[in-house]
Amino acid sequence: MTNIELSPRVADPLVRMDWHDEGDDPAGFRAALIRNYELGKVIILENAPFQIDLDLLNKVSLPRGRRFQKVSDKILCTPRLYRAEVRRLLYDAFGTNLVLYLAFRQEVHRLGASLRDFARTVFRPYRFLKLGVSWRFTVTGPEGLHVDYFRNEEDLHYLRIFVNVDHESRVWTLSHQLEELIERYYDQARLFELAEAPSNAICSRLNKAVFDHVNALPRSAMDRHVVSFAPGEVWLCETRLNSHEIYSGHRLVATDFYVDPASMLDPSQRVEARVKRSLERSRASRNAPPRSHVPPGGKQMPAIVSDRG
Ligand SMILES: [Fe+2]
Repeated sequence: MTNIELSPRVADPLVRMDWHDEGDDPAGFRAALIRNYELGKVIILENAPFQIDLDLLNKVSLPRGRRFQKVSDKILCTPRLYRAEVRRLLYDAFGTNLVLYLAFRQEVHRLGASLRDFARTVFRPYRFLKLGVSWRFTVTGPEGLHVDYFRNEEDLHYLRIFVNVDHESRVWTLSHQLEELIERYYDQARLFELAEAPSNAICSRLNKAVFDHVNALPRSAMDRHVVSFAPGEVWLCETRLNSHEIYSGHRLVATDFYVDPASMLDPSQRVEARVKRSLERSRASRNAPPRSHVPPGGKQMPAIVSDRG
C-alpha cells in the first residue's frame, strides 16, 4: 500500500485507481485512466495486472553511479558482449551464475512484454512511436527535485508507467507541477527570454534557475509531498509535468513510451501546448495593469497579495 504524506501548500496530483474496478466497466475505467493521465495526475494503480518475481529480481544489484543507473531491457536480454562496459555490467550483476542470468533475462523480457501489452490494450487510442522499457538496479537518491525533459525538441506525448520491483519502498517527493512552476518562477528563471522556446528548454531552465538552487538548501526550502511506493506498486506519472525526486529506491522498471499527441483523447493537454499556454498567461499577467486599478465604470478592486516569485 502506498503511503502518502501530503503538503497542504502543494496541489495534490495523486489519484488512486483500482484495477479490480476495470472488470465492471472496462471501457469506462480505461477512458478514466487515460483522462487522468492526460490531466497530469500521478495515478497509483492498485492491484495492477502484472506478475512480478520480486525474489528473483532482488538477487540482482548494480553498483551505484550514473553509468548504469538506467539500463534498457534490450541490453539486459540481448547484451552486446563485444562492448567491455556491457560485459562488466553483467559480470557485476551475475558473476559466473549463468542459471541466475537466464532466469533473470526471462523475467525482464516477460515483464517488459506485459507493460507493452498493457499500454497497447488499455491505451488503445494511442499511436505509439516507441515502446522502450528501462530498468534500474542501483541504489538511488536523494537526487534532488527536477522536471524531466527530452533531449530533442519533438512535440511528443510520453506514457510513463513505473513498477517498484524492490523489496523496499521507493520514496519520491513531488512538488509543484510544470505550469505552476512556470507561473511562479517566470521572472526568477527569466522565462520571458524563451517566449517561443520548446518545452525542453523551459524545463531545463527551471532545473538550472530554480531547482539547482533549491536542492542546495535544506529540504524545507520547497514544499513537497512524500510518497512511498510499496514493493510491487505500480504508478503512472508524466515526469515532465510533475516535479519530482527519487528520495530513495533501488530496483525499478519504467516505460519510455512515445505517443503521437494527435492520438491523445485531448491533444490540448500535451506538454508543448501546456507550456505555450502557461508562458502566454504568465506574460499577460505581468503586462496587465496593477490589480488595484479602477476598471471603467467599476468600483475599486481590492489589491490581491501574491506570494509568488
Ligand atoms: Fe526524473
